[in-house]
Amino acid sequence: MRVCVIGTGYVGLVTGACLAHIGHDVICVDNNEEKVKLMKAGQSPIFEPGLSEIMQAAIQAGRIEFTTDLGAGVSHGEILFIAVGTPPLPTGESDTRYVEAVARGIGAHLNGGYKVIVNKSTVPIGSGDWVRMIVLDGIAERQKTLVPVGGGRAQENLPEITAEFDVISNPEFLREGSAVYDTFNPDRIVLGGNSPRAIAMMQELYAPIIERRYAEDKSLPPVPVLVTDLSSAEMIKYAANAFLATKISFINEVANICDRVGADVTQVAKGIGLDSRIGNKFLNAGIGWGGSCFPKDIAALIHTADDYGYEAQLLKSAVSVNQRQRLIAVEKLQHALKILKGKTIGLLGLTFKPDTDDMRDAPALTLIEHLNRLGAKVKAYDPIVSQSGLRDGLTGVLVETDPERLADGCDALVLVTEWQQFQNLDYPQMAKLMNHAVIVDGRNFLDPEKMVRAGFQYIGVGR
Ligand SMILES: NC(=O)c1ccc[n+]([C@@H]2O[C@H](COP(=O)([O-])OP(=O)(O)OC[C@H]3O[C@@H](n4cnc5c(N)ncnc54)[C@H](O)[C@@H]3O)[C@@H](O)[C@H]2O)c1
Repeated sequence: MRVCVIGTGYVGLVTGACLAHIGHDVICVDNNEEKVKLMKAGQSPIFEPGLSEIMQAAIQAGRIEFTTDLGAGVSHGEILFIAVGTPPLPTGESDTRYVEAVARGIGAHLNGGYKVIVNKSTVPIGSGDWVRMIVLDGIAERQKTLVPVGGGRAQENLPEITAEFDVISNPEFLREGSAVYDTFNPDRIVLGGNSPRAIAMMQELYAPIIERRYAEDKSLPPVPVLVTDLSSAEMIKYAANAFLATKISFINEVANICDRVGADVTQVAKGIGLDSRIGNKFLNAGIGWGGSCFPKDIAALIHTADDYGYEAQLLKSAVSVNQRQRLIAVEKLQHALKILKGKTIGLLGLTFKPDTDDMRDAPALTLIEHLNRLGAKVKAYDPIVSQSGLRDGLTGVLVETDPERLADGCDALVLVTEWQQFQNLDYPQMAKLMNHAVIVDGRNFLDPEKMVRAGFQYIGVGR
């Protein structure tokens, strides 16, 4: 099928490349010229395992193109994905101005055959109908600029814009760091809308994925497809992220109690996770959640509830537990080192989770700010940030090029991001290079006994 994906960030580029990989004919549109230039040259502007490879293969097969020309994308696609960002406003509300600009732009270029416009961006409840309205506005604005056939001012001589379309909500559940894998192996596909024609086209688009033709385990039953109304699909996305964030805040709260009573939260999590009603995922205690989705989506849901006269108390608590949790590492450092003024703290990891280059709302940023405020010098090593231009955008932290340089002269280390390679660093050597060999394991990722053998004072979260 002919597909246009507008916005080529973590969601749009992965969606476009994966749809091209399974045989569709894709144009990706972005208004960032530099990004488009990079992508045309076969380079991914973001780090996501496996993405460059499928992108390059799709370029070679002639199944994907990149452009800044929205008009070209709109006339190409039978299915038009909106995948631009919806960042948070200071009020917690989501900033939908990019979605609005794209919807208006689609209206300004829409003409000819039937199209399905897909909201892939995470958008506030009710956005499906709102996007339809903006697209119609875009069409009406273009209609006004048209010159009547044969000149003159007669309305009846105006050329008619024929545009038939439906809007579908198709929320995205991929996880950064395994986005390509998740796209080919989804737990479910949610399609919200009331047009059987549009739903049928979406099912045809996703058929190879639904039938698990590109899945790791092809013997699994087909991917469940949940067809809902627009608002329910929009709500499913917010509710899923709010639930996961709350689950982490829950185990973090349990970890803080474990710390006080002398229990080990990793054993507690195992014990409760074996209960099939609870499940073992998202039960890792640590220094809290962050990233581009959980904080903004839970804030947007709280804001929506507020707009409709409901105070979302549980969600607000999940947020405040998380805010406090981000500073647990500072408390533990103060406990171990007492005064932090004049001390040097090394952060292992900066990105909000491993296998991504995304720094949006990363807990590391909160830590850097607070440690600086307390007069500590902050250094960091991160497998991605240390090797990329991202380091230039960071203030208040000296980004080192390897773990041993990081350890050199530090009074303590904090493991912030659980990059797999942090399991196998030369910790005995690092301990020797430090002023005080203290490590706060902010993700309960390391083996405490091994760290003690390496010469460290090991401090976990709730263990
Ligand atoms: N990142 C995730 O893990 C994730 C997961 C699920 C859902 N989402 C949702 O998907 C949406 C996109 O997130 P993202 O992380 O991919 O965002 P992003 O910021 O990485 O990418 C957005 C892209 O849109 C482009 N853009 C902005 N305005 C444009 C316009 N008018 N025309 C063309 N391109 C334009 C930007 O240049 C950028 O490349 C958000 O609503 C987000 O909440 C994200």
